[in-house]
Amino acid sequence: MHHFDYQNQQLHAEEVAVAAIAEAVGTPFYLYSTATLTQHFKAFDNAFGDLPHVTCFATKACSNIAILRLFASLGGGADIVSGGELFRALKAGIDPQRIVYSGVGKTEAELAAALKAGILLFNVESEQELDALARVAASLGVTAPVSFRINPDVDPKTHAYISTGLAKNKFGIAIDQALAVYQRAAAMDNIEVKGVSCHIGSQLTQVGPFVESLRKVKAFLARLAEAGIAISHLDLGGGLGITYNAEAPPHPEAYAAALKEEMAGLKCTLILEPGRVIVGNAGILVSRVLYTKTNVAKKFVIVDAGMNDLARPSLYGAYHAILPVNQQRQDKVVADVVGPICETGDFLARDAEVPACEAGDLLAVMSAGAYGFTMSSNYNSRTKVPEVLVRGDAFHVIRQRETLDDLVRGETIPEFLR
Ligand code: LLP
Repeated sequence: MHHFDYQNQQLHAEEVAVAAIAEAVGTPFYLYSTATLTQHFKAFDNAFGDLPHVTCFATKACSNIAILRLFASLGGGADIVSGGELFRALKAGIDPQRIVYSGVGKTEAELAAALKAGILLFNVESEQELDALARVAASLGVTAPVSFRINPDVDPKTHAYISTGLAKNKFGIAIDQALAVYQRAAAMDNIEVKGVSCHIGSQLTQVGPFVESLRKVKAFLARLAEAGIAISHLDLGGGLGITYNAEAPPHPEAYAAALKEEMAGLKCTLILEPGRVIVGNAGILVSRVLYTKTNVAKKFVIVDAGMNDLARPSLYGAYHAILPVNQQRQDKVVADVVGPICETGDFLARDAEVPACEAGDLLAVMSAGAYGFTMSSNYNSRTKVPEVLVRGDAFHVIRQRETLDDLVRGETIPEFLR
């Protein structure tokens, strides 16, 4: 369910006409709906009911501080993967005791910043990282709360680039090697072993792989208990998929029910790191048609947003529905919707049934709220687009369009070239 729908044949975000926002801020831009974000966050969080849990939103999916603040106001925390995301989460007012830090390549400076902030858990992904964390914690005179990310070797049945829990992936510590690491960590100064974590991939459309990995983690928890290592936190990562096209992923209720059933008897605080399922369908990318053309083989709709603004179609072959902002455009054509970037891989849709449109028309690229703006870049020296948040009948620019000066900020011409 989302709040992007037609009123009098004009696409609206909640009560605001998308065309009016385009008029005010120009195109392209990302547009999010507060009601949708709130509803999705609550649907997910409430699904775990009274089970002790923290919903740590995966910041990488959509990291604007206004959106992080919204989740903080709903009781959410953050899953972060960099010092930059830590900075954002703190700036947004997220309680450090609701922040967990994942990722295979945390630097000592990043570890220090997170220790100083007093975050809930470090999801450590290697022994060398553990050593670095202990070193930094000792230098600061603090104790680091640690969870190890276990790689359970489970096939999440999703795109290869976003599968993370297979033995061949770079993530985590192999479940068979993990006990020895826990035993070593338990004996270390400045390290407090608190949790086990696991994240097997993204855009999962079945509950089976989640259950399979939780079963493996449970068996591992039993081994830890036998070894006398008590665990208070179990982090099951994110990964629940959404409907882009015809996918039918489990509802958060069904996902939570399956996990809760497996959790019966475990006395741990559950940590969840959902990203896409909360924001994916709560955001769209709005773009204007610049030109249309038909060559020998194909029709092309050339729009003002490109792969630098939304990388998912080019990078993963991902499908995003494209709708007309003005629904009077009822005819459809099969065309490629392409951007201005000088690469053949620059497309938002290929051989897709799209609105028959003309130069000047507005198009909405749907389901763009997750990994949309956050993966955007300045490629081809294009300025990053604004982000706009609608609430009821008002809209707020939560990130301004970059300026040309922003493009060269920090660049200098050395003396010898002057
Ligand atoms: N936790 C960890 C440790 C993760 O690595 C991820 C995503 C998440 C949570 C959140 O997963 P979600 O609930 O959003 O599926 N750029 C790709 C997705 C990359 C996901 C990376 N990790 C895409 O556009 O599909």
